[in-house]
Amino acid sequence: MTQHVEVLTDKSALVERALEIVLEQAQIAIAERGLFTIALAGGSTPKPLYEALAQQDLPWNQIQVLWGDERYVPPDHPDSNEGMARRAWLEHVPIPAANIHPMPTDEAEPSRAAERYEQMLQQLFGISFGSFPKLDVVLLGIGDDGHTASLFPQTEALQVTDRLVTVGNKDGQPRITFTAPLINQARCVIFMVAGASKRAALAEIFAVEADDMSYPARLIRPDGALWWLLDQAAGEKLAPRA
Ligand code: 6PG
Repeated sequence: MTQHVEVLTDKSALVERALEIVLEQAQIAIAERGLFTIALAGGSTPKPLYEALAQQDLPWNQIQVLWGDERYVPPDHPDSNEGMARRAWLEHVPIPAANIHPMPTDEAEPSRAAERYEQMLQQLFGISFGSFPKLDVVLLGIGDDGHTASLFPQTEALQVTDRLVTVGNKDGQPRITFTAPLINQARCVIFMVAGASKRAALAEIFAVEADDMSYPARLIRPDGALWWLLDQAAGEKLAPRA
């Protein structure tokens, strides 16, 4: 793992830097493999990045868009990560509909939705059950509690190591989420973290000693590159661990 920590002056500088890294990774992936796969984060921080991607002229037919997690609501629900990314980005570019892979949220049992997404990943990457695909980029944020994707503190999802996708749990509400092992297969993971409210969680995540189960973002140590893009408010007092 190659870790990079950058503290940017403000959120717009953070988004600009994230865009640079995503575009660079897309160029490399398409040049090397003719395909760029990216998993999106939800929440509010990445929205301006998606809006910036809507302004790009990219080989959209060579780009596959996935989600790293999803709230268990329909896509037209205000909390939907799919809905946010479609409105901010995907509705504004000529990307083939078949290249957009939202997490299903229409199964009575969320575990069935997780299985369906895992099957989609296996088909997309041409892998068999038990193999872990390498995504080019996984975008992530962290909550004030140190969660990432929908891997929340002290939940069962943190223990799932033999699946690509599982059911997360936020205060009893189901989520669909990539597992930590799938995220850790990525060629490039980019955390986008803004705001003073994230400072305490960041200190624990970067601490030499802390409980991974209490701060799940600590589980993310990808084989590839790990980028921490922080704004001043979140990262100014941080002492990154080696
Ligand atoms: C989600 C996200 C989640 C998010 C963090 C940070 O579905 O909510 O994937 O992990 O990245 O909660 O959210 P903000 O960017 O809104 O602070």
